[in-house]
Amino acid sequence: MSKTTTILAIETSCDETGIAIVRKTGDKVEVLSQALASQVDIHALTGGVVPEVAAREHVQALQPLISKTLTEANLNPQELTAIAVTVGPGLIPALTTGLMAAKTLSYAWDKPLVPVHHIEGHIYSALLMEEPIKFPALALIVSGGHTLLINIPQHLTYEVVGSTQDDAAGEAFDKVARLVGLPYPGGPNLSKLAEQGNPKAYDFPRPMLKTSDFNFSFSGLKTSVLYTWRDIPDNKKTAAQADVAASFEQAVIDVLVGKTRKAITKYQPQSLLLAGGVAANKKLQHELQTMVATHKVPLYCAPGALTGDNGVMIGQAACFAFEAGRIQPWANVDATARLPVTDFSMPLG
Ligand code: KG4
Ligand code: ZN
Repeated sequence: MSKTTTILAIETSCDETGIAIVRKTGDKVEVLSQALASQVDIHALTGGVVPEVAAREHVQALQPLISKTLTEANLNPQELTAIAVTVGPGLIPALTTGLMAAKTLSYAWDKPLVPVHHIEGHIYSALLMEEPIKFPALALIVSGGHTLLINIPQHLTYEVVGSTQDDAAGEAFDKVARLVGLPYPGGPNLSKLAEQGNPKAYDFPRPMLKTSDFNFSFSGLKTSVLYTWRDIPDNKKTAAQADVAASFEQAVIDVLVGKTRKAITKYQPQSLLLAGGVAANKKLQHELQTMVATHKVPLYCAPGALTGDNGVMIGQAACFAFEAGRIQPWANVDATARLPVTDFSMPLG
């Protein structure tokens, strides 16, 4: 009989309340139920996430979503093995709401608490596969807060080999979108508009593409777009919007794909994982797919609905973490705004 782990997971690090019940039986991971409350419409009013507003929305969403996932999974709380929660990085007021809910349930239902790192969650969102993936794996995590290349020699072991020196890729998408007058959330709107533009119209820089390390920088690119946009006459701006979007997007993708190619050559992974909000970008997926094919490395991309923040990814990571012995007394678990994923890495063994 295979061991079974059933976890209720809570994610509230930013502006999505994500709840999921995930079950791992042997190597097989399945999602029993999931629920997501997005705050996009609320934060669109302010053009970005206001932490206290996000926290208030999480508080309202948490209890109904938890009840809903239990009902849909047809489970009573005693059938759960553990409660998992994102403890960082993220917005402290937002993280704290999920953490308080998780601690309360852990105490009331007498279930162990499994702390999960948000980036670990993104990594595991690309691992919801029929068959187990092969290690070592390399992960490209591209979100609103992070741009990371992570070498993963085995489950739950993380070596960050590259990161951004300034803006994250998603952040650059969001800032450029705002610059050219697109509404929040900028990234998806900008990439949609880019489909109608010419990616060669403007020759934007590819920052750090030629450096021998695996780090990124997007702030110079954003500034270059700013100057180009400023110099386009007002009566030509609408016509130029799609070309600027497409040329910017191409510059970001060239850097992401170029650096990932370099990391593949060095780390020789058996699998490439792509996850985080920007992983929803179809052009990025396509160009990475073309690149990895020449290296004969399979690409595993988080499913469309799971590229952004959600509870499923936390539940998935938590199943592996719990089975590896990660349980923390709830009194010792805190929310942390800045938290390296390597703090959660298990030693090689
Ligand atoms: O992972 P995520 O949902 O939240 C964070 O942990 O940051 O990522 C959100 C980011 C935002 O910056 C958003 O603009 C970006 O992902 N994003 C995209 C696309 N869809 C979402 N960026 C480019 N192209 C997209 N299609
Ligand atoms: Zn995220």
